[in-house]
Amino acid sequence: MTKTRTAAVKTLTRRPAWKALAEHYKKIGNVHLRSLFADDPRRGARLTAEAAGLYLDYSKNRITDETIRLLVNLARECNLRECIESMFEGRKINVTEGRAVLHIALRAPRSEKIVVDGVDIVPQVHAVLDKMAVFSERVRNGEWLGYTGKPVHCIVNVGIGGSDLGPVMAYEALKHYSKRALTFRFVSNVDGTDFEEATRDLNPEETLFIISSKTFTTLETMANAHTARAWALSALHHQGAVARHFVAVSTNASEVAKFGIDTENMFGFWDWVGGRYSMDSAIGLSTMTAIGPENFRAMLVGFRAMDEHFRTAPFEKNLPVLMALLSLWYNDFFGAETVAVLPYDQYLKRFPAYLQQLAMESNGKRVTVGGAAVNYQTGPVYWGEPGTNGQHSFYQLIHQGTKLIPCDFIGFCRTLNPIGRHHEVLMANLFAQTEALAFGKTEDEVRAEGTAEGLAPHRVFEGNRPTNTILAERLTPETLGKLIALYEHSVFVQGSIWQIDSFDQWGVELGKVLATRIIPELESVAEPRLKHDSSTNNLIRHYRKLKGGRS
Ligand code: F6P
Repeated sequence: MTKTRTAAVKTLTRRPAWKALAEHYKKIGNVHLRSLFADDPRRGARLTAEAAGLYLDYSKNRITDETIRLLVNLARECNLRECIESMFEGRKINVTEGRAVLHIALRAPRSEKIVVDGVDIVPQVHAVLDKMAVFSERVRNGEWLGYTGKPVHCIVNVGIGGSDLGPVMAYEALKHYSKRALTFRFVSNVDGTDFEEATRDLNPEETLFIISSKTFTTLETMANAHTARAWALSALHHQGAVARHFVAVSTNASEVAKFGIDTENMFGFWDWVGGRYSMDSAIGLSTMTAIGPENFRAMLVGFRAMDEHFRTAPFEKNLPVLMALLSLWYNDFFGAETVAVLPYDQYLKRFPAYLQQLAMESNGKRVTVGGAAVNYQTGPVYWGEPGTNGQHSFYQLIHQGTKLIPCDFIGFCRTLNPIGRHHEVLMANLFAQTEALAFGKTEDEVRAEGTAEGLAPHRVFEGNRPTNTILAERLTPETLGKLIALYEHSVFVQGSIWQIDSFDQWGVELGKVLATRIIPELESVAEPRLKHDSSTNNLIRHYRKLKGGRS
């Protein structure tokens, strides 16, 4: 390692604030939440923050006021304010790809001016939104006719990664607001099963495919797009049908045209929108078609409210900053490896999957922006399931296992589906879980219940399991926008402190290249000459043998 690189590597852990946090951890790392709460009866009301209608209770974290002070110092020492401004001002902070990072421009009002390479991009953003609105209204009103003159009422989004997870998450999250007469399906996996199951009951005459791909070269999406075209044409028998049954969302007009989609029916976006930050761009075309332009715009208003809060609020009261710093506290000082995201709302069932790409593709990096290997932990694993389902599967490990798993609980005070006592029971479970995780149950308490001698250790809950609780009034398009922006910015804050490029994803490349090499080896009739390692060679031979006795 060169001298300069060594210097860069050590920068973060040599910072006074980092060292102070390491010292502080030695003092409070083992302090129990029970004593933190006992020492400060107002803690539960005090360690909270509210912005744009989202209420964050972070009191059940293993922190003191001093921890927050030191974490905020770290953010300051890492020039977080400047990093935030760099993003909002459109500097090319995606260094390895030489790109600006401006998903915040997707929700900028028409009156705003954001300049990239000398061009104000806000009018372009609104031109696309307006075009999406016209298109989606035509579909919603039954005015978009298929090739045989029937209105389309089945919409299939074909895309993967950011071109799928955002749309499917938002569709599920906002189903309550969707036009129920329309059917929405999402095809992402190159496994033919995904396409088959998504389309088996659809009528090609009434089906519209939205081919969503930033690059329009992604192997899975292109394979599914070609299969979709063959599926449609085998029923509609004319190339002219493609124009009525296929639209594209992409930055790559020439590939869209090559595929046969009229670029008039293409909805563009820009290289300054990362795939995993694109669900509120044209990639949200299926979302807008489902919920309507007005609701989509309300979602953008929500994003925008959180953007403004993030840009202007002091770090101590800044929701994305606080959440980022707390997660970093566990990740880098307690050695926690994962974060569980637990929405107590069935509509948010795909939210953890969406967050996985957002957080893990962004911050799963082992070198700094300058290319030096880090000597600290970067992005944790994100995972989760909606409550209360998770309670009956993996919560056992969170409560009594040997791993520390900080959790984000998300709940709403008013349900969209008031049925009997369901919502109170749901929310009671949310509150109960955070209480149990924080305070647990001591051996004395277990014994006082008359538990048999041998069973007592099994029934003890150690507690001291940290949680955040995020509450909002109701799940609306606007609330969803706020929630997503909260996590987007939180991921950004962490990446800024870790000095990594949160906006590239080189780690997905190698597997793609190797798969492209292996495809012909699986397909060839003649026995291929394999040059992989002995395990991969052997697996390929075994596969060829079982799939049809060719080897
Ligand atoms: O392979 C990873 C990735 O590049 C993601 O970052 C992206 O969201 C996804 O593939 C899909 O890419 P595209 O929209 O270009 O098809």
